[in-house]
Amino acid sequence: MIYDLVVIGSGPGGYVCAIRAAQLGLKTAVVEKDPTYGGTCLNVGCIPSKALLHASHMFEEAGHGLAPLGVIVDPPKLDLAAMMKHKNETVGANVNGVAFLFKKNKVDAYRGVGRLAGAGKVEVTGADGASQTLETRNIVIATGSAVAPLRDASGAEIQIDEKLVVSSTGALSLEKVPQRLVVIGAGVIGLELGSVWRRLGAQVTAIEYLDRVLPGFDLEVATRFQKLLEKQGFAFKLSSKVTGVKHEGEGVVVSYSSVDGATSDTVAADVVLVATGRIPYTQALRLEEAGVALERGRVVIDDHFATNVPGVYAIGDVVRGPMLAHKAEDEGVAVAEILTGQAGHVNYNVIPSVVYTSPEVASVGVTEEDAKAKGLDVAIGKFPFSANGRARSMRETDGFVKFIADAATDRVLGVHILGAGAGELIAEAAVLMEFSGSSEDLARTCHAHPTMSEAMKEAALAVAKRAIHI
Ligand code: NAI
Repeated sequence: MIYDLVVIGSGPGGYVCAIRAAQLGLKTAVVEKDPTYGGTCLNVGCIPSKALLHASHMFEEAGHGLAPLGVIVDPPKLDLAAMMKHKNETVGANVNGVAFLFKKNKVDAYRGVGRLAGAGKVEVTGADGASQTLETRNIVIATGSAVAPLRDASGAEIQIDEKLVVSSTGALSLEKVPQRLVVIGAGVIGLELGSVWRRLGAQVTAIEYLDRVLPGFDLEVATRFQKLLEKQGFAFKLSSKVTGVKHEGEGVVVSYSSVDGATSDTVAADVVLVATGRIPYTQALRLEEAGVALERGRVVIDDHFATNVPGVYAIGDVVRGPMLAHKAEDEGVAVAEILTGQAGHVNYNVIPSVVYTSPEVASVGVTEEDAKAKGLDVAIGKFPFSANGRARSMRETDGFVKFIADAATDRVLGVHILGAGAGELIAEAAVLMEFSGSSEDLARTCHAHPTMSEAMKEAALAVAKRAIHI
């Protein structure tokens, strides 16, 4: 049998692509090396971290957030095993859901490591070492990303044992709350998982190479966010590079120096989380042998997700663009549509990004810094949640909404939100930007959604200095 499509990798990019392709009539197979489907996001990424972020937020609210609302409860007790059970059940339900969808849509699933084995061939090697070769008209590489290695001052790779020195994977399964957690890298993973363990009782110190947290996000938002995290108990060592991680007694000592090398120090930890980014995962695919071009580890594709080898496509973390599950999913749908003669398309200007901390941080489009760097003439509108009635009623007044619009046309170019519910609110902006709306259009659509959306409306109106409530 010859497949129309073999997808390598069953993460959000791969599984969505395979299912959509099957729905569109292609005889489709998917190849997965891990025991369960769903890739990093479902197994050791977005989904388990969201389960722990929600549960730890509830714990913190029960301890500190309820009394001011007149709800008096005994100080909560942590049952970490039960919290982990909730996380594991959430993951289980999601990965089983993908298996169900494969069956329902008649996607053949093969377990094993996939590699390109010549034109139209994918070799699958199972855990028992046995191989089989699938023949196919098209291949989609959707193999995702892996933890970026971190090197000490001598250039040696810092070893991750997933017990004392953990990646995000180990940080989702610690058996007890570390007294002292050191996070290397104050990006999305460091601040989300740092938040989980801080809420459960850890003292968290984040060591960050840059002079700011959350690179890529609007600087004003990130700076305010850092202050809020400090109020929650986070300690930050910015402009600092880690020079070594040494086991000492039961714990670990992390040495670091200022980026200019002028000062150096150490910090002791029970657990160290390495969260310094992720790199495309192409191991075992034998892409070089197959002639597939790579650029700085990423598979090179054209605007239609095609690599330089005919019939071979790539999507998700393994190609250019943000390493986000929803971006990979959209690319998966687009490539399935392209393969069936439709006009699959992803609008990269409107991919929102959310940090699921408390408060949340959400962003879509250009930041103020991007706008300056591109020499764009922009008008900026802002609105604080402290002036929003519903935010006040929920005691969630930290943060603000920030709009960046084209000064001449009023078209929205970027929206950045720090505050409760930011992850939901950003969708209004993303949908509007998809249709090239102006800040006036956005203000009008917000009339349909009162309460927190008022903050969106007022920030949108503030672009033209027409906000009412401040
Ligand atoms: P990141 O790129 O967001 O942050 C890594 C941080 O480590 C950066 O601030 C960087 O400056 C810093 N860093 C790099 N090398 C360093 C060193 N030697 N010493 C100190 N600091 C150093 O990457 P992160 O947090 O690992 O996340 C990986 C990917 O996963 C990202 O693309 C992110 O968008 C995605 N992700 C998305 C989530 C979401 O959408 N909610 C959640 C978690 C991850």
